[in-house]
Amino acid sequence: MLSKKMEKAFNDQIKWEYYSAYLYLSLSAYFQNLGLKGFANWMDVQFQEEQFHARKMFDYVNEKGGRVMLQAIEAPGNTWKSPLAAFEFALNHEFVVTKRINDLVTLAQKENDHASAIFLQWFVTEQVEEESNFGDTVNQLKLVGDGGGLFMLDRELAARVFVPPAAA
Ligand code: FEO
Repeated sequence: MLSKKMEKAFNDQIKWEYYSAYLYLSLSAYFQNLGLKGFANWMDVQFQEEQFHARKMFDYVNEKGGRVMLQAIEAPGNTWKSPLAAFEFALNHEFVVTKRINDLVTLAQKENDHASAIFLQWFVTEQVEEESNFGDTVNQLKLVGDGGGLFMLDRELAARVFVPPAAA
């Protein structure tokens, strides 16, 4: 079973993962509107990744006999001043997610909840990849500026596909 504190913390994080999905779908719409379909695709794949994260946590809470209580999701931003600003915003969002996951692990340890601490290790590792993925694109955007390189990068980001981690 889950302690009430853990149950609440997981419910809050499920909401955060769905908020992340919503934010990336909004970023996908932003890039679609700019005519950068590769960037839009990349964000759309990220939208799917975040739903996977939320669902993984949702299933765990149920498996542990906890009660999932879905919460209202705030509206994400809709516009950014440039593709670089949009990716920097997303990278900063991922830093916040990483801190939240770390806080969850700390809480699990305090609650002497070893199962949750082990479950959360997947998310700890996943956040390393998330920060690296967003950080790479931020760096590439800084290098290419607003010129033709942006369209080359757009073509590269068009190749990203969603692969459910369990099937990978
Ligand atoms: Fe679910 Fe991007 O962290």
